[in-house]
Amino acid sequence: MVKVVIFAGLFILYSLYSILIYTKGTENAVALSVPEQSKISKGKELFQKNNCIACHQLYGLGGYLGPELTTVYSDKNRGELYMKAFLKAGGQRMPNFHFKDDEVDAIISYLKYVDATAVTYKNPE
Ligand code: HEC
Repeated sequence: MVKVVIFAGLFILYSLYSILIYTKGTENAVALSVPEQSKISKGKELFQKNNCIACHQLYGLGGYLGPELTTVYSDKNRGELYMKAFLKAGGQRMPNFHFKDDEVDAIISYLKYVDATAVTYKNPE
């Protein structure tokens, strides 16, 4: 009888824990449509092919010539238009890659996605 009670107790705890993990634990997950996913992949590919990480950091890792880009999308002083300007024309030290409009859009989608997933990066604790 004791074993049955212990089993039932553990089973109930396990069930509650599972419910918590599958509801609370996935709250910050970013749900994406298929076209969004392919745009983000394209942006990621461009980011990797052009070696942006040589000068920029994502999640704190990368080169230090250029600024950190993890939260560039939601940054009040930077954001989408600001990024677009640099991606279209380059800067003083940032090279001009001569990206087409759809390539610029793809890179911005990728950096937007990075920003949306950087939950612990924005609120360390
Ligand atoms: C040779 C180094 C270098 C490379 C490679 C480079 N950047 Fe930059 N980037 C910079 C620098 C430096 C700045 C700051 C502005 C300036 O001084 O021109 C900058 C600024 C930016 C900005 C504006 C953000 C801000 O906070 O000022 C964005 C967005 C950006 N770069 C994206 C990219 C992307 C995407 C790539 C890859 C396609 C890339 N960069 C490749 C050096 C680089």
